[in-house]
Amino acid sequence: MDEKRSVRNLTRDYFDSLMIETRVIDSGEASTEMKLFGETFSTPVMVAPLSGLGGICPNPMQEVAKGAAAAGAEAIVVSNHGGSIVDSAVPPLKVLPRIVKVIEGKIPIFVDGGITKGTDVFKALALGANGVLAGRMVMSGLASEGGEGVRKVITDTNEDLRRTMRLTGSPDIHKIDPEIVWY
Ligand SMILES: Cc1cc2nc3c(=O)[nH]c(=O)nc-3n(C[C@H](O)[C@H](O)[C@H](O)COP(=O)(O)O)c2cc1C
Repeated sequence: MDEKRSVRNLTRDYFDSLMIETRVIDSGEASTEMKLFGETFSTPVMVAPLSGLGGICPNPMQEVAKGAAAAGAEAIVVSNHGGSIVDSAVPPLKVLPRIVKVIEGKIPIFVDGGITKGTDVFKALALGANGVLAGRMVMSGLASEGGEGVRKVITDTNEDLRRTMRLTGSPDIHKIDPEIVWY
């Protein structure tokens, strides 16, 4: 198996192994608003640094930035390439709790690598992340509709996150009980 694929499978399997405890059925709206760097964002889902997108659509970098800005996510963070460099790289969520412990809330923590849906975002937030970065997740939208497609992917993922929050009785992204995620 090629190394990138095995790391991606490891990461995917770890995300999928974490279970979410459903606590509330039919509860009210949940808020995904967050304050970061002095600004208020409507979603904790942001776009990872991306390159080599030529061929997917015209002006891909501008389109990604445009779609991310329109979706409310305005931050780009340099990351570890989503585990595609080293074989057997640790899935981000496995190491996250240790990092949260060390950082003690002093600076925002982002999870990068393997995010494909709202429940992945939920698990990352529940385990202490302030937000997540998505790379491959936005590719399908970028390829089909450029910036508008990126906006749709992020907005849909945010809605999926809100739905999970409603079902777990999590009123906002700062009040997600870590015990909701089972190992
Ligand atoms: C097409 C593509 C280009 C990327 N280019 C860069 C880059 O230039 N610099 C960088 O630090 N990471 C780059 N990455 C890695 C992403 O920033 C990010 O770490 C990774 O995509 C996150 O994992 P995910 O795709 O599973 O969400 C790239 C990823 C993709 C898919």
